[in-house]
Amino acid sequence: MQRHTGWVIGCAIGVGVMLLGGTTSGHTAIASRFTYNEHLFPIFQRQCGGCHVEGGVAPMSLLTYDEAFPWTQSIREEVLGLRMPPWKAEDGFGDFANGHILPAHEMDMILEWSSGGYPQGPLDQTPTAPTPTDDWTLGTPTLELTPPEPFTIDASTNETVRYFVLPTDVGGDRWVTGVDVIPGSRAVVRHVSVYIDTSGQARTADDADAGLGFASGFDSAQPIAVWWPGQSAVKLDTVGYALPDGADIVARVLYKKTWITEGQDFTDQTRLGLHLTEDDVSAITHTVLSSPDEPNGRQLAFSHTLDQEVSLLGLLPEIEIEAVKLQIEGVLPDGTRQPLLQIHEPDLGWPTRYWLDGPRVLPSGSQIEVTATLRPGADRETVPSLFAGSAPVRLLLEYTAGTSAAN
Ligand code: HEC
Repeated sequence: MQRHTGWVIGCAIGVGVMLLGGTTSGHTAIASRFTYNEHLFPIFQRQCGGCHVEGGVAPMSLLTYDEAFPWTQSIREEVLGLRMPPWKAEDGFGDFANGHILPAHEMDMILEWSSGGYPQGPLDQTPTAPTPTDDWTLGTPTLELTPPEPFTIDASTNETVRYFVLPTDVGGDRWVTGVDVIPGSRAVVRHVSVYIDTSGQARTADDADAGLGFASGFDSAQPIAVWWPGQSAVKLDTVGYALPDGADIVARVLYKKTWITEGQDFTDQTRLGLHLTEDDVSAITHTVLSSPDEPNGRQLAFSHTLDQEVSLLGLLPEIEIEAVKLQIEGVLPDGTRQPLLQIHEPDLGWPTRYWLDGPRVLPSGSQIEVTATLRPGADRETVPSLFAGSAPVRLLLEYTAGTSAAN
């Protein structure tokens, strides 16, 4: 009860600040060298604007001063707590092509601005908030795929996963070298993962469900792309995913509302843009590594020995237990350690595929070592998984055999 009262008071103060902010900011002592118009806007646009934009998936836009300043305290907390932005890979521990963490100097600027009176800056330098465009980020795709009709997320549904089966018929075998996503409803499309299904499992699940698409029962393939707003799509040259003639593409869409969009109806018709080639490329292979069920003290550690030389391309960890840190290293046969990925405060809500900025060649006999450090007394949580398996920590590796991808 005590806590409840505290929350109500805290909230009332918050609202007071929000209402008064516009008129009192002129009296707040300004102790920040950085202003919104000159310094913060470009950071918010680059690091947060994929989601915190008018009509975006986040509860508020940060792309105008009037919308951003009521949130200064909360921005400070989220950024310091490493919860925002949701990209987690630690700088200097592996390099990635599809995203990066908030750089330290930008975090410092955000913190100084938010605690230093959050000045707006010269009015003649007021930036214009961009409107999201429906452009393919990788250029015109070879094949565009869209569900036949819009899917409705009704007012009473706050969060739901839906799979859509998208048949392909391109007249022969192809390789997929890139996947682009244009969300239909930016406000609720939180996350999209894309699969190639040659088993017919998705069609069977689709037939069994009366509505458009289906809700569950697909685990026969691993994702070939994982997208969320603002993440860069990756275009490959010499490697690709095999798309046999007539295979189905499956799009798994996570719809999630925020407290702003709760209670509203939405319809969505998300578009996929596939880049295909007939040229000879190296096949990307998937392997899933699984942790033991029980931790050893606060650690869940496991490793996998490669029985052939591989060029490692991507890493997609899934963690179903509260962890403070996840670390992945390659250990070469001579004992040399190669940093691959380190994540602090992994967030179950934003599964991320980390695409290396170049293939990492690991000779046969190398080990992939994974260590998750758990929160004391960590509980298992159930998160809908992007790939099959039931261990508390899983890692999907994407690679090609040999060094072919390194060329
Ligand atoms: C990939 C999308 C995405 C990006 C990028 C992102 N956010 Fe968020 N943010 C969200 C969503 C969605 C929420 C609402 C909480 C939830 O549902 O997870 C949120 C919540 C927040 C909140 C808390 C709002 C509340 O309701 O209390 C703050 C503050 C915030 N974000 C700041 C930032 C800042 C600052 C950045 C950039 C440095 C950023 N976010 C980048 C999606 C994003």
